[in-house]
Amino acid sequence: MENEGKKVDRREFIGQAGLGVAALGTFSGNGLFALNRVIGANDRIRIGIIGAGDRGQEDLKSALRQPNVECVAVADVYSRRRDQVKSFVPNVATYDDPMRLLDRNDIDAVIQATPQHLHAKYFLATLASGKDLYSEKTMAWDIPEAKACRAAAQSSKQIVQIGMQDESSGELADGKKWIQDGLTGKITMVESWMSRNTRQGHGQWVRPVPSDCNPAHVNWDLFLSGRPKVPFDGYKFINWRLFWEFSGGNITENMVHQIGWIITAMNLELPKAATMMGGVYSEKDGRQVPDTISVSFEYPNDLLVAWQSTFSNERYGLGERFLGSKGTIAHVSGSNTMETGDFKTGNPNWDEENAPGPINYFPEKINNPGGVPLQGKNPGVNHMANWMACIRDRKQPNGIVEIGYLSAVACHMANLAYKQKRRITLEEAMAAKPDAWM
Ligand SMILES: NC(=O)c1ccc[n+]([C@@H]2O[C@H](COP(=O)([O-])OP(=O)(O)OC[C@H]3O[C@@H](n4cnc5c(N)ncnc54)[C@H](O)[C@@H]3O)[C@@H](O)[C@H]2O)c1
Repeated sequence: MENEGKKVDRREFIGQAGLGVAALGTFSGNGLFALNRVIGANDRIRIGIIGAGDRGQEDLKSALRQPNVECVAVADVYSRRRDQVKSFVPNVATYDDPMRLLDRNDIDAVIQATPQHLHAKYFLATLASGKDLYSEKTMAWDIPEAKACRAAAQSSKQIVQIGMQDESSGELADGKKWIQDGLTGKITMVESWMSRNTRQGHGQWVRPVPSDCNPAHVNWDLFLSGRPKVPFDGYKFINWRLFWEFSGGNITENMVHQIGWIITAMNLELPKAATMMGGVYSEKDGRQVPDTISVSFEYPNDLLVAWQSTFSNERYGLGERFLGSKGTIAHVSGSNTMETGDFKTGNPNWDEENAPGPINYFPEKINNPGGVPLQGKNPGVNHMANWMACIRDRKQPNGIVEIGYLSAVACHMANLAYKQKRRITLEEAMAAKPDAWM
């Protein structure tokens, strides 16, 4: 291979990258790593994937649509998932243990889309192996792991893209610019929401357990990875999202995208405090994580950010409204518009041409009498293409680790407030004992 970087042993690599032993996890193998080779515009980027479930396969297909990208290895604890990848990447090498994929020194970059509780483990191990990383949100399972990921990334030269694709959206660029240009004036309140519906009797997210989902085809111990050892449970393996041990519920599934969007648009740091109320109201199907949620964050400098979600009604899709003294920014997506309440599909009178765009600015006449309404036009970029370009240019991508960190801490503050049924300050969340997170 042209331009292949020099190989160094593990100790030398740790010294160079400034990584602590903790960052290595249980790394095993031949102890050799490839420092990043220089990848020119026409060189192939060789990727591997860790966790090739629903999202991982989507991410992989998106990566393979980019020019000069090749998938050489897949690691997944479930043989069905490895076989599925083989069906569209015939020569791919397959592993059940991701550490064996990371042992290879002919892989430039890794996509990881494992369940939430495994993110930090493979985040740290991928960086320690000297590979670039696309890591699905939420960046980490709890605040200590978010700190560890951030520290490892800060002392690493690897290019890390967090799978928060809205960070690459044109609407975000438009909204951020309007705020920076002073069009909104002082924003004291951001309202955000996310609504979905499901057929009655069928809980949101619940997936059927395939007949081959059994210990012969699943490395259950590796899935548990540090969680209490319990006998194989196919329902929990497939539906990990419903259980606190493996998931942060809809906070880490969906709020993370929206709070990240708000943080970036307004250039926010960490919240001062969080509250969260709700419960399992839609379908009482044995899930632990709430399906109906109301979160409030107090941010520094007089800002309240609210987020609410339901799984029993989808009329208002999802969106964010920035309420400023001089103007409003309304960002909507999903199946309808907040302004009209009309559904985009199924409504014969839907006027696509004249419907409000996904992001709009509306002046507040009282403080901005000459203001005019604006509609966002920025097309944005593809998040995966942005990662690939940054791998070649060694530049920071749009979904930087810092937004992964800021959004993860906010998520975990909210969930902690829910579990402890009280307002949680940033200081309390940062000092929470390990057992607080389960
Ligand atoms: N960015 C987005 O919009 C978006 C959308 C959906 C999901 N996601 C995220 O992607 C991640 C995966 O979600 P999903 O719906 O694909 O879940 P999934 O259950 O379909 O996929 C997870 C995969 O990880 C595998 N796995 C489990 N333990 C493993 C281990 N130790 N090593 C290797 N593989 C292991 C499972 O076998 C499975 O194939 C989650 O973090 C989720 O939040 C992001």
